[in-house]
Amino acid sequence: MSAALLEVRDLRVELKRGKQQLTALDGISFAIAPGEVLGVVGESGAGKSLTGAAIIDLLVPPLKRTGGEIVLSGRHLDALSREDMRKVRGRRIGFIAQDPMTSLNPVLTIGQQLVDTIVTHLPVSKEEARQRAVRWIARVGLSDPARRLDQYPHQLSGGMRQRVVIALALCAEPELVIADEPTTALDVSVQAHVLQVLRDLHEETGVAVMLITHDLGVIAKMADRVAVLYAGRVAEIGPTSEVLRTPRHPYTSGLMRATVAPGLDRKALDPIPGSMPNLSSIPPGCAFNPRCARATAECRSQRPPLVDYRDGAGKHACFHPLEDGR
Ligand SMILES: Nc1ncnc2c1ncn2[C@@H]1O[C@H](COP(=O)(O)OP(=O)(O)O)[C@@H](O)[C@H]1O
Ligand SMILES: [Mg+2]
Repeated sequence: MSAALLEVRDLRVELKRGKQQLTALDGISFAIAPGEVLGVVGESGAGKSLTGAAIIDLLVPPLKRTGGEIVLSGRHLDALSREDMRKVRGRRIGFIAQDPMTSLNPVLTIGQQLVDTIVTHLPVSKEEARQRAVRWIARVGLSDPARRLDQYPHQLSGGMRQRVVIALALCAEPELVIADEPTTALDVSVQAHVLQVLRDLHEETGVAVMLITHDLGVIAKMADRVAVLYAGRVAEIGPTSEVLRTPRHPYTSGLMRATVAPGLDRKALDPIPGSMPNLSSIPPGCAFNPRCARATAECRSQRPPLVDYRDGAGKHACFHPLEDGR
């Protein structure tokens, strides 16, 4: 895995609540290859957003990274100072949040924000940055790009704002962009267009993408590989086509049966019984065991390790994996 762009090993995030020390991320490991789209999926509360935030050092107290390694192109991000991490963020890793207004400054024009980001991170003149800003606005599909430069975020629709955020995330030419539910806050009618912009720019620039979503339909359309998270752990990870065709972890299979989406070949909803546990009540053994029809005494007492299948192309953390996706 030395060719990985990003390697996350045994990532732990904890928080203190009163006297309790709670574990939000419990040993998350995965890698992203250069130019790859890794989908990260799981129900609400699975730990998707915290995984993204931990990688770019945006965890807010009381949340704290208490263990693990984060390596970008061979360089340990987990050992960097706040200041050095700030430079990595933006320059080498772009970030797209769910709500575009968290990334946009309401009192600066679109052009000022793009130009600032470009001159902060790249060795170009202000004039060159301005030209690049116009090109980025055009690339994300906004009409009349030169005029857009002088507009403020509030003058744009939600979908257009998120396009601008995509331009901001990519304009410093990062190797990786982390997109946390980039279309969830948008009108359904514009979600597919905004995802397509991200996909097109991924193909044009070769930027790797960590795409966080609760939506397996989005994963099916966008991701080369997918990591399925449950209760702050990786349940399964592997090539998207394989994982969706023959899920090994009962949680993955349950998520698929609970999803109706084009490309997933599902006609009826069959929700997983129960719900994601709170951090204060994660069951011993496999965290999914109370919701799992295959659980045995072993699953209730021992935590299944993440093991390889098919020569390491995929991994699952299950004592009783499904054989044929069922
Ligand atoms: N600031 C916080 N304080 C306490 N618990 C938090 C905080 N942020 C997230 N959590 C908890 O951590 C777990 C993972 O959250 P998150 O990563 O946001 O899930 P996801 O993005 O998959 O929906 C959840 O149980 C959530 O309640
Ligand atoms: Mg989230």
